[in-house]
Amino acid sequence: MTYVVTDACVNCKYTDCVEVCPVDCFYEGANMLAIHPDECIDCGVCEPECPVDAIRPDTEVADSPWLALNARMAAIWPNLNTRKDPMPAHDHWAGVADKIALVCETAPS
Ligand code: SF4
Ligand code: F3S
Repeated sequence: MTYVVTDACVNCKYTDCVEVCPVDCFYEGANMLAIHPDECIDCGVCEPECPVDAIRPDTEVADSPWLALNARMAAIWPNLNTRKDPMPAHDHWAGVADKIALVCETAPS
């Protein structure tokens, strides 16, 4: 089992999660983070840190595309283990659902 970053992170990227991960397994894309499924030790510490509940156990999202997306992107994006400012329009995007089509697969510039 692993934890997975899902929809709510897109265009918000609060990054509270990265500070608590004991194995530094968060990776940063331009508008969301991903968890590396082979590095996550399933401790669950990050889950309550996300202010928009974007981090879910894989058992909750087993049939969603987020599992594969996290695995694919975490292999490409750079590691992030220090908190940074959220994205500029995070207040707006935090209330928007179904953002998977908006995921930017490039790394942050
Ligand atoms: Fe890191 Fe634990 Fe969250 Fe996995 S569950 S991403 S190991 S803090
Ligand atoms: Fe994303 Fe939540 Fe972390 S919005 S960056 S999963 S704190």
